[in-house]
Parts: sequence; C-alpha cells; structure tokens
Amino acid sequence: MCGIVGYVGKQKAASIILEGLKRLEYRGYDSAGLCILQGGQLDVAKKAGRVEVLVKEAARHRFNGTTGIGHTRWATHGGVTDANAHPHISSDGKFALIHNGVIENYAQMKTFLAGKGYTFKSETDTEVLCNLIAYHYAKEPSDSNGTSRFLESVRKALEHVEGTYGIAVLCVDFPGEMVAAREASPLLLGVGDGEYIVASDASALINRTQNVVYLKDGELVYVTAAGFTITTLGQADVSPVVDRITWSIADAERGSHAHFMEKEIFEQPVALENTMRGRFSEDGSTANFGGLNLSAPELRQIDRFMFCACGSAWHACLVAEHLIERYARLPVEVDYASEFRYRNSPLDRNTLFFVMSQSGETIDTLAALREAKRKGYRVLAINNVVGSSIAREADGGVYQHVGPEIGVASTKAFTSQLLLGAMLALYIARLRDMSFNDGVQYVNALKGAPDLVRQALGQAAHIQAIAKRYARYADFLFLGRLSLFPIALEGALKLKEISYIHAEGYPAAEMKHGPIALISEKCPSVFFVPKGEIFNKIVSSMQEIKARKGKIIAIVTEGCELPAGLADEVIPIPDCHEAVLPIVATVPVQLLSYYIAVVLKCDVDKPRNLAKSVTVE
Ligand code: AGP
Ligand code: GLU
Repeated sequence: MCGIVGYVGKQKAASIILEGLKRLEYRGYDSAGLCILQGGQLDVAKKAGRVEVLVKEAARHRFNGTTGIGHTRWATHGGVTDANAHPHISSDGKFALIHNGVIENYAQMKTFLAGKGYTFKSETDTEVLCNLIAYHYAKEPSDSNGTSRFLESVRKALEHVEGTYGIAVLCVDFPGEMVAAREASPLLLGVGDGEYIVASDASALINRTQNVVYLKDGELVYVTAAGFTITTLGQADVSPVVDRITWSIADAERGSHAHFMEKEIFEQPVALENTMRGRFSEDGSTANFGGLNLSAPELRQIDRFMFCACGSAWHACLVAEHLIERYARLPVEVDYASEFRYRNSPLDRNTLFFVMSQSGETIDTLAALREAKRKGYRVLAINNVVGSSIAREADGGVYQHVGPEIGVASTKAFTSQLLLGAMLALYIARLRDMSFNDGVQYVNALKGAPDLVRQALGQAAHIQAIAKRYARYADFLFLGRLSLFPIALEGALKLKEISYIHAEGYPAAEMKHGPIALISEKCPSVFFVPKGEIFNKIVSSMQEIKARKGKIIAIVTEGCELPAGLADEVIPIPDCHEAVLPIVATVPVQLLSYYIAVVLKCDVDKPRNLAKSVTVE
C-alpha cells in the first residue's frame, strides 16, 4: 500500500502535498515524490527514503504551482530506488501519475507500448499505466462530445487494466486540473474552500477540510476550476455524497509523545470508552449493536460463526472465538483471510460471517468478504475506519470508534477489537442461555475495562526497566493459555514487527512439544499467569522452562502467589472478568515491545518492510 495526495486550488501545492505525505507516511515509506504542474511543465522531485528526504530534495526546486500530486511508496514492483519512486512521467512528457495498488497485466501492456515507441525509466507497473494513458491521449483527436480528452484518455486506459489502483493524474495540457480514480484501493476527495484534495485517507487533508466524498470502486473524479464531477468507468454520472469527518487534526498528531505507538497505547482507556459508548441495553444486561442489521429472531437462527482477518485482527478473532464458544455456546471458526479466500471451505447454511479489520482496506480481508458474499452469506464487519471499502461492502457491522491509528503496530485498535468480540459474545449469549444476572455482571465488568487498563498502564516505568534488561536477547517465547494464547501471539507479533527480535507465541502447554528445544539462558519466555483453574498447570510449564535455565517474565494477575524465585521478573495486572482479561493482559506486552524497540533505537512507528495496511495480495 502507499499514500497518495493530489491538490488543485489557489495555494502553493507543494507544501500542502508534503504536509499530507508526512501524515500518510505510515502507509508506506520506501520512497516519496511529488510533481507540480507549473509553467506548462511537470516538475518532479522524488527520492528513495522517507518524506524528510523528499522535503530536502523539494527545497532545491522552485515549486510555485497550485496543482500537484505526491506519493509515499510501499514497493511491489521494482526495488526501492529513486527511479522507481512515484510520480511517474509518460515518455512523451505529457502525464504524471501516482498509484497505490498493482497493475497485474502490466507486462503485456509494457510490450505493447514498447512496440509503439514508448520508453520506460523504472521497473514499476505504474509507469506502464502512465504511458498507456499517454497512448490513448495521442489517439484521441481532441475534446469530443463535450467531454475532456484528458478524462477520456484516463478512462480508456483504465478499461484495459486488471488489478487494483488508486491513482491521481496530471496532464500538461490541462493546468489546474486533475483526474483521480479507484479500484480496490482507498481514495477520497476533500472538498475545501476553493480547493480540492484527493488522498488515500483523511489524515492527509483533515487540516484543510472535514468535508469529504468517498470514491467507490470504478469511479473517476475530474477536478477542474469549475468544480468536480464523478463518473463511472462506464461513463455514468454519479451524484456525490459529501460526508463530514468527525475526528480532528489533533487525533492524527503525536502531541507530546515520542511515538504514535506510545500515544495510542496510552489512549486505550479512552478508546475503549468510545468503543462501548451507547452500546449497552437500558437494563444493563446486554450489548446493543444497531448496525448489525439483523433482528434478534434472525440472530437466534445462527448456529455457527466464521471470522476472517489478518495479523493482529486475526488474534482478536481468536479471542472472540474463545468467548463466544464459552458464553454463547456456539461453534466458531477463525481463518486467516488470505487462506479462506482460496481454501473453498464448506460453510453451514446458518453461519454468520464476520470480518475484522482496523483499516477496512486490507485486500486479503476484503477478498474474503467478497468470497463469502459470492457464496450467498451475509457478511458483517468489525472495522475502525469509517467509509472504508470493507465497511461499505459489508452487509452490516460495528465501528470501533477509536480514531485514527497511525503507528504501524496495532494497539488501541486491537484492544477495541477484543472489546467488541467480548460484547458480541455477551449479546449472543443473552439471546440464548445467559441469565440476566450474569449479563449484568458481564456488562459491569466490561464497563470497568478502561480503569483496569489505566491500572495496567501504571506499570509502564517498571516495564521500561525490564525492557532495558532484556532488549539484547535475540529470541523470545510468549506463552499463554485459553483466551490468553492469542495474546501470546499478539505479544510475539508486536515484538517482531517493531524491534526485529525473533519471537514466537504458543499455548503454554504446547511449548513442551517442540519449542522447548529453543530454551536456554539466551531465550527468555514471557508467561501469562492468570488466576483460575489452570494456574497450577501454567506454573508447571514455568518450572519446565526454569529447569532449562530459561529466564521468565511473568505477567501475573494480582492475588496469585508464584513459587519464590520462579519468575525473574513479575509484572502485576489487575484481576478481572474473563471477558476483560485479554484486554488488560495485552497492555504489558505492548509496553514491553515498545520499550525494547526504543532501547534498540528502532523506528517504532514505521518498522522496516511493513505498511499500516496491506492493500496488495
Ligand atoms: C498489527 O500490528 C499489524 N501491523 C498487522 O498485523 C495488522 O493487524 C494487519 O495487517 C491487519 O490490518 P487491518 O486490521 O487493517 O486489516
Ligand atoms: N505497484 C506500485 C509500485 O510498486 C505501487 C505500490 C504502492 O501501492 O505503493 O510502485
């Protein structure tokens, strides 16, 4: 995935685009570039590296024009080089293009265009599309039938494209104009005061306008001095719907925090409150979900759930599985979205299908949703980004309402997904066998989650001290059982992605079936040790590690007495209801990973090779 921004207005475009690119950088940071249309020319600055490198490069240009496009890249086709950075210019010099996505049939087109004399400076699929537009433009005689030759050339080229794209295009012959289009990559149009900004997401334009039009797949927007028009690839006119973004610029800024990840970890109590707000019944015994678009009698017909997601969201689904099976006594299956799509797994008639995705743009999850819908299933979504592709294509769902999550490592969005999974389990359970009193107890426990998370955050200084002692280990195991097994997976993922330390998550008892071979004084284990029936079993697993000289960091619920000397480090967390425990237990592993990455001087918010949401397969 990548970030794209395009500006048409009265202000100097370059600084507005660079500001937007800084906010979109979390989406991809292999290279950055911008192109300003000025003095009848397309003036390009682009560099491998971060936006800050581009800012220095841009300072060498005289960028005065009021129309431009910019890009931060997450490379799919071609290495991380200056030449492969976007924008790309057609070999006749007429078009500049930025692109998020993959042009799957680029190779055939490239051969065709090379035969027509077009030349290529990069290895990207994107440059091929840019030249294809130029080819169609050269074929178009002039503005015909009152439609723009510029717009029609883009449309014609896109008719031949297989793949995914969010694009913005400039043409030297049309100063002050821009064409943008999308197919399975996010794109929205900000409608400002005498200016228009297209962007991959709202954070790039929220400082200039809160009024946006979310483009749909197969739509093109044509921005001119007279305003903007939206049409489909099939040339149908589209009446735009202008939405208002409810969050503000402050939500997308780091404030006094060293990193977005730190900010987002500490925002979790408020984020959880926002996720819950207005979602409990008046009698305080169950959850309310207006957006499911399913009545209670319809939900009673459901006899199985299927969840699909990727990464952290997949871990959240595993916790939902545990809670729904435990409290609602219905079978749940969880699959990686990328696997489900190709597995063609048999589904029962009365299965309710859920996808979970912070961004709502993860292509694997979107494809799983589409595949389930194709099979005739109703698909619901748990999703954070309002107006995202997944939100739009789902038959109903629940928004997380945690505001923008900028750090590449998911934190507040993950715990909010855990909360929604717990609320869903309650809702279904109350439609079935859960008593009123048990429901009230469950609801009260959920309402107490923000405070318990605040308490867990109170261990930050202690965890930071532990991180300093453990940052130099090269391997870690994360071990938990039942609903904390997925949190072990999440802890391992967090550590891997932001500090590049090898880590694996396992069910604590499964460790002895293989991973124990890794144990030595060089491989510490992080154990989740909750109070309850399996406490003694977990202690036995810890003894097995200790017997092999493995160091142990134990995350222990208050009130549990560990045998003296068993754990090298103890991080206490408050004792709590089983539905809340995974949320509270997540906090110490987020903090541990965060502080280890800080000690190692890693780029916490933008870890290498990653991007915030993965919009390619
Ligand atoms: C989480 O820390 C990861 N960066 C990643 O696994 C992420 O959860 C995954 O890519 C799914 O993203 P989504 O929730 O936006 O669909
Ligand atoms: N496929 C294009 C490239 O590799 C765009 C990738 C992106 O979405 O950043 O340059």
